Amino acid sequence: MYVCLCHGISDKKIMKLTQQHGITDVRGIRQITPLGSMCGKCIRTAKEVIEEAVVAT
Ligand code: FES
Repeated sequence: MYVCLCHGISDKKIMKLTQQHGITDVRGIRQITPLGSMCGKCIRTAKEVIEEAVVAT
């Protein structure tokens, strides 16, 4: 599913990047993708996806 529709970033992509780069929060993902830089509606969902990914590692 797409988390960030504005930039076409999926939950799978967020999970992969989170695990590959050792990211633990939204700020980390925003440093390497444009997530949240347009409408910002995706931030909350992105946070949940990252938390899930962190727990899974
Ligand atoms: Fe991510 Fe709009 S859905 S910035």
